[in-house]
Amino acid sequence: MLTAMSKKQTIVVIGTGYVGLPAALLLARAGHEVIGVDINENIVRAINEGVLHIKEEELQAIMNEPAVRANLRAQTTPAEADVFLIAVPTPVDHRKKVAEMKYVREATESIVPYLRPGNLIILESTVPPLTCREFMTPILEKSGLKVGETLHLAHCPERILPGDVFYEIVHNDRIIGAADRKSRELASAVYATFVEGQLYQTDDVTAELCKLMENTYRDVNIALANEFAAVAETLGIDPFEAIELANKHPRVKILRPGIGVGGHCIPLDPWFIKEVDPANSRLIFTSRLINDEMPGKVAAKIRKAVRGISAPKIVAIGAAYKANTEDRRESPAVEIVNLLRADGYEVAHYDPLVDGYRWRGSLADACVGADLLAILIKHDVVMAELNATRAAIESGMRAERILVFG
Ligand SMILES: NC(=O)c1ccc[n+]([C@@H]2O[C@H](COP(=O)([O-])OP(=O)(O)OC[C@H]3O[C@@H](n4cnc5c(N)ncnc54)[C@H](O)[C@@H]3O)[C@@H](O)[C@H]2O)c1
Repeated sequence: MLTAMSKKQTIVVIGTGYVGLPAALLLARAGHEVIGVDINENIVRAINEGVLHIKEEELQAIMNEPAVRANLRAQTTPAEADVFLIAVPTPVDHRKKVAEMKYVREATESIVPYLRPGNLIILESTVPPLTCREFMTPILEKSGLKVGETLHLAHCPERILPGDVFYEIVHNDRIIGAADRKSRELASAVYATFVEGQLYQTDDVTAELCKLMENTYRDVNIALANEFAAVAETLGIDPFEAIELANKHPRVKILRPGIGVGGHCIPLDPWFIKEVDPANSRLIFTSRLINDEMPGKVAAKIRKAVRGISAPKIVAIGAAYKANTEDRRESPAVEIVNLLRADGYEVAHYDPLVDGYRWRGSLADACVGADLLAILIKHDVVMAELNATRAAIESGMRAERILVFG
């Protein structure tokens, strides 16, 4: 909330997607005048009509608050403001395995005509280290203003977990990174109006690397779990039992092996570290390769399970990138199905949580006449239905083959 120390500001949020829109809503609720800017006209219209385009119930409730409706509007072009918060996508160029900086460049260029002395620019997008200094600063200084003197620039990476955005955006600790003290203080003051977690100030490069380290830590540990699972399989033992027993050690916490790593953060961010320092990123690189190989290994197991059956009918369950989400971005399950279909296999692909993938009737109905049921993503609802109706599922199949992964 605004206090005597934190005055009402006009804040332009560039990119009102999963990250930008929740920030815009909370800034508006805190009392700021917020202008959401998005190149997608449908998103702009939805915001102006008070409709949330991301599935988060608590955020819709905030959107419905009269004060938020009064303080937030959306448009397709920037405007003059005190603060510009940039939250545009930073995908990976899949061939070169480097960050695709097109959106950050275009977003930064789009605000240059509106910059005035004293403005603060906050980058929330996940980016390779040195982006603030070497990529954004030269663009911003086309305004004639000087970063660190007449303009302020901070990197405040976002850590929210889709599905729990409202709680996390308020309660997570945040890193506020900037090359100069004034930028750090100005950015901290903005976040202090809606964040209840700690605000840790540091320099911009540390903030950029921190965000990447968090997701890379997960990626490397998942790769280790996948490698342990492969070794266990070579030895003919159950990888899950081995990992469970190893985790009885008080200082060991091995993650679960799986079908690969999805979502639009963990499989991408490690590449941004390798991009800036390849010689020191050997473990990170190898881990990426291990996790990226997983869908191919799972597809091979499925092919092996139907070997000898002419024109096998496979039913694959799971299109989301992990259990209990509808998010399909970078989904290894989708990749597995694509690999099988490219090899000529007939695969019926379902996911009860993902639009366009829902089965009609029941899981048992979806499996009638199938030679293999492969559960790729263990959504709670899927496992509950599998356990409750397993006999019916198996009796309808041509052969009783059920593989459950992860
Ligand atoms: N989604 C998450 O959970 C999450 C978590 C942490 C960090 N991040 C990072 O935050 C950044 C944004 O991710 P997201 O999930 O919100 O992406 P998103 O695709 O949901 O939203 C980005 C929005 O930016 C808009 N946009 C693109 N270029 C624009 C421009 N020049 N001007 C105005 N709008 C523009 C797009 O139309 C889109 O609506 C990425 O760097 C991502 O890696 C995301």
